[in-house]
Amino acid sequence: MNETTLVLIKPGGVSRNLIGEITRRVEARGLKVSGLKLMNASRATVEEHYAEHRERPFFKDVCDYLTSGPIVAMAVNGTNAVKAIRAMMGATNPIEALPGTVRGDLALTIDDNLTHSSSDPEAAARELGLWFPEGTIS
Ligand code: CDP
Ligand code: MG
Repeated sequence: MNETTLVLIKPGGVSRNLIGEITRRVEARGLKVSGLKLMNASRATVEEHYAEHRERPFFKDVCDYLTSGPIVAMAVNGTNAVKAIRAMMGATNPIEALPGTVRGDLALTIDDNLTHSSSDPEAAARELGLWFPEGTIS
């Protein structure tokens, strides 16, 4: 099924010059970049993005982290894009992420796990609306 999902390259990924490496992997898989911007995210946008985690102990830290420097917001389109991208990014905790995944190859700790990707199509639709209110290329 053709889907569009959201990828965020978190501040650690941008500061480590991994925008190209992460985007290269997405494109090499055969998926299309259909929205792309480098930005300083507002606190309000990040809190809305992570609203499901509002009561979790890591909520403040992850919001601090996402607003600590520039991030890349990317819309990615293709067959089964949501699941394909989640699998490519790897487990939330990089120490459990398999080699070959972005987190398994390029990250070590959960608080600096380089990327966000939408968990399911409903989350993707909500998050794309939040980060790309102007819409994406279809
Ligand atoms: O990003 P993903 O969907 O894999 O994980 P999540 O469970 O939705 O958590 C969102 C983000 O919060 C993670 O990617 C981590 O950056 C952060 N987090 C954390 O710092 N410590 C945890 N115990 C869980 C999540
Ligand atoms: Mg999540």
